[in-house]
Amino acid sequence: MAYSGFSLEGRVALVTGAARGIGEALAVGLAEAGADVAVSDMASRIELARDTQARVEALGVRSSTHELDVLDVASISPAIDRIVEEYGQLDILINNAGIRIPRPALEVTEADWDATVDTNLKGLFFCAQAAARPMIEQGWGRIVNIGSQFSAVGSAGRAPYIASKHGVLGLTRALAAEWTPYGVTVNAIGPGPTETPGVLAAYNRTPEELQAEYADKMPLGRRMQPEELVGAAIFLASPASGATTGHLLLVDGGWTAL
Ligand SMILES: NC(=O)c1ccc[n+]([C@@H]2O[C@H](COP(=O)([O-])OP(=O)(O)OC[C@H]3O[C@@H](n4cnc5c(N)ncnc54)[C@H](O)[C@@H]3O)[C@@H](O)[C@H]2O)c1
Repeated sequence: MAYSGFSLEGRVALVTGAARGIGEALAVGLAEAGADVAVSDMASRIELARDTQARVEALGVRSSTHELDVLDVASISPAIDRIVEEYGQLDILINNAGIRIPRPALEVTEADWDATVDTNLKGLFFCAQAAARPMIEQGWGRIVNIGSQFSAVGSAGRAPYIASKHGVLGLTRALAAEWTPYGVTVNAIGPGPTETPGVLAAYNRTPEELQAEYADKMPLGRRMQPEELVGAAIFLASPASGATTGHLLLVDGGWTAL
């Protein structure tokens, strides 16, 4: 008999920042594992998010697109409540929305700091809080925070981003301590360098230049594709990971092994 622990059939997932990049790949990946997927992103990317919805629906599961800007904290809980009302439940949150503003620490402005930490850490917390309420009520939930290899190690030129991603790991542990007794596990994935539109835009380099820069920093020898994070997300979203909580699952091509 086939092992069913990874099946997401009958589960409802919400993915933030799902218009493109890693969020898009994870929305499609969870749908491939059988979940219904609510796709969300900020207003300026909502048309792109609808394309993700179409990819999810093509897999034969239910989907819808929702405007959810994680910087607008007051709007987060109402948006998540609407999704719960629409689907009747919320089982999985993929807390993916994030930004990076790479810059030497001496040049970081208050605006850079606030944008990065407010999106990657504050917004992520309030999404988790709003999603945890219905999950705790139903006694089952999976919160998967997208951290980074920089949740575990440092690097030059990215101080606010690294602070925010270390914060994601701290928050993951704190929320796991609070919510696991109610059946809601909280874990983080730490992707290594992954080829996404956001990375290409932030670093102002060609894919080939980025590739050369990263190749010797990763035993894998190349940057990853967003789809290479899907297996980790399915595991942490599934019944199979019921005893895994407060954990950072690094999928970093070996970056932190060196
Ligand atoms: N690509 C990498 O190398 C890499 C490595 C480690 C971690 N990550 C993390 O993975 C996540 C996704 O990154 P990506 O590379 O796919 O980036 P991306 O820029 O390609 O996609 C990010 C998505 O988040 C959305 N977003 C940004 N701000 C938002 C907000 N305020 N509210 C709602 N949505 C918002 C964007 O509209 C976009 O659709 C981020 O948390 C990032 O830090 C990426």
